Amino acid sequence: MKIMTMLRFVRQVHCSILSRGKLVLGVESTFDDSAAAVLDEDGRVLGESNISQMKLHKSAGGVNPMKAQQMHRKNLPIVITNAMSQAGINFKDLSALATATRPGISFALAAGLEYSKELIQKHKIPFIPVHHMEAHAITIRLLQQLDFPFLVLLASGGHCTLCLAQGLGSYKILGQKMDEPPGAVFDKVARELGLFSEKRFCDISGGQAIETLAKVGDEAKFQFTLPLSTGGYTRSCNFSFSGLQTQVLRTIQKHRTSDDIDKRFCADIAASFQRTAIMHIASHILRAVIFCRDKDLIPDRTTLVMSGGVASNSYFRDKVTALCGKLSLDLACPPSHLCTDNGIMIAWTGMEYLKAGIGIAEDPMSVRFQPRSPIGDYIGDDVIRAGIKIPRKLLKQMGLW
Ligand code: KG4
Ligand code: ZN
Repeated sequence: MKIMTMLRFVRQVHCSILSRGKLVLGVESTFDDSAAAVLDEDGRVLGESNISQMKLHKSAGGVNPMKAQQMHRKNLPIVITNAMSQAGINFKDLSALATATRPGISFALAAGLEYSKELIQKHKIPFIPVHHMEAHAITIRLLQQLDFPFLVLLASGGHCTLCLAQGLGSYKILGQKMDEPPGAVFDKVARELGLFSEKRFCDISGGQAIETLAKVGDEAKFQFTLPLSTGGYTRSCNFSFSGLQTQVLRTIQKHRTSDDIDKRFCADIAASFQRTAIMHIASHILRAVIFCRDKDLIPDRTTLVMSGGVASNSYFRDKVTALCGKLSLDLACPPSHLCTDNGIMIAWTGMEYLKAGIGIAEDPMSVRFQPRSPIGDYIGDDVIRAGIKIPRKLLKQMGLW
């Protein structure tokens, strides 16, 4: 009797695995999150686990690559085991292992790739190296039907890119960051304002702290200069945040009379900084849409996908929602937990490639990580040549500011 029950159980488990079709384990370790997830081919999340190093790096004032590597080495086996056991499967049940191998911090990427190679060698699993930025860009297709082409804005602690997604592995970069990424600047402003010593902000990112504080601030109090408003990149879709960072940090330092900073002042700085940073990004989205429409690169009805940590900012989302309304553009934003780094987006990208029958590494052990790896070809010079002006008053006329 006992044997019969056991056999029935084994069959049930076997059937449930079969009915799930393809299964992919996704592994993320490009920056400061060690994450893993198991997905079936319909995009059902069967297991998920994430250990963030944010707290550690926040207290150190930035990501320490060696420390990040040590933490990934310690945490990746944990998150992978968690995701696999939640899914109730073994490595032999996997159709593929998908790992983010580019772009990112070398030490962090190395830890993820090393461990992935151990697993694929031991369990003989097909391997799909994934582009982290592409994963951010196409995670939305896990949540809704969305055909190529579409526009994508990725804004995070490491990146700021505006691109045209034309197909799997096929992207045109309309604009990219020229210096500091926006998330890093949100983090630095939060640090300079001393927000991390406040209990309510100690478990959240600098960006989230700024967003929270900005809600009670006056965004017109400080008139910071809009980035790239002069020079050769005025009519580009590129991004620059370091000049804005300097202006904001100087203003804070000038007003700081003692170790204490006035709460009202902090809120006004947060709101004014957030407004300028978001206005910069929004005006470049507008230019990108005009450019792509003029060049017939997108159909009349197109979707703008926004992802990355900064794109989870609700002030930003409200402004871009209003912009999209004016432009008859559909806006699609994954929920916050899928906007920030996670294992699901890597597993889903692996699944997309697997289903398309492409992307499986022929010689997995020779795969190398690539710290720098643009998502596609840069066509930003064509954008500059098109000379599309977006004056501040146009944003005002559109009711955005
Ligand atoms: O995408 P993400 O989780 O990691 C990578 O950078 O790849 O983004 C994290 C970044 C941090 O710099 C954080 O401060 C910023 O995104 N961030 C935000 C918000 N939430 C996270 N920035 C502005 N507003 C937010 N609500
Ligand atoms: Zn990311």
